[in-house]
Amino acid sequence: MIELKVIVGSIRPERAADKVTPWITKRIENDGSFNLEILDLREWNLPLFQEYAGSVGDPSNPTYSEPIVKAWNEKMREAEALVIITPEYLHGMPGILKNALDTVFASFAFRNKPVGVISYSSGIAGGSRAIENLAHVAVEAELILLRNSVIIPFVNSAFDENSEPINQITDAAATVMLEDIKWWALVMNRARKEGELPPGSARLRSHLAAMK
Ligand SMILES: Cc1cc2nc3c(=O)[nH]c(=O)nc-3n(C[C@H](O)[C@H](O)[C@H](O)COP(=O)(O)O)c2cc1C
Repeated sequence: MIELKVIVGSIRPERAADKVTPWITKRIENDGSFNLEILDLREWNLPLFQEYAGSVGDPSNPTYSEPIVKAWNEKMREAEALVIITPEYLHGMPGILKNALDTVFASFAFRNKPVGVISYSSGIAGGSRAIENLAHVAVEAELILLRNSVIIPFVNSAFDENSEPINQITDAAATVMLEDIKWWALVMNRARKEGELPPGSARLRSHLAAMK
């Protein structure tokens, strides 16, 4: 079973995320390949990011400024793959979601892990610009952002009374995304067993030291 964490990236009352999350939860559970945990940022009341070397503490057993920050980093470390459910706010991801990603600071917990994105919006763009925004962020976090995402336009009328998507392409896109997540998670798990390169910043330091 693949350890899959799903991050719900909106916390507003009456959020449209609540149309998307029950459907994808059922899809992932029915797939049978995943050990699923939903991480709803409404329940993860993370502080606004303000970590620094002094609050992180010993990098091999970091304390962070608050226990919830440490717990969030541990959740991300447990993950073998991620799904991010995001609306589009001002052509990007919500600040609350960016904050949750920033909070994975100094632990390198995202490195070399696949992430699939489900975006939505009340308009025709379906949150596609939030995915583009996430792609920039994913590179720096060394997440493997998958090409095949699920984009849901007009989210308020996209699901029927049984929480099933009205447009079949939504379901088909989820199947493709989950196939990719499985493939990448299994490949990266195998690769990790053979050993990972240390983070680039550490290698840069050691190469520079060797030049002296
Ligand atoms: C602050 C804010 C900014 C928004 N910006 C966009 C936008 O840039 N593009 C878009 O298609 N929809 C935009 N919307 C509409 C959202 O897609 C819509 O409200 C959606 O329901 C938000 O998801 P949520 O209800 O789960 O928070 C915005 C909504 C909010 C609250």
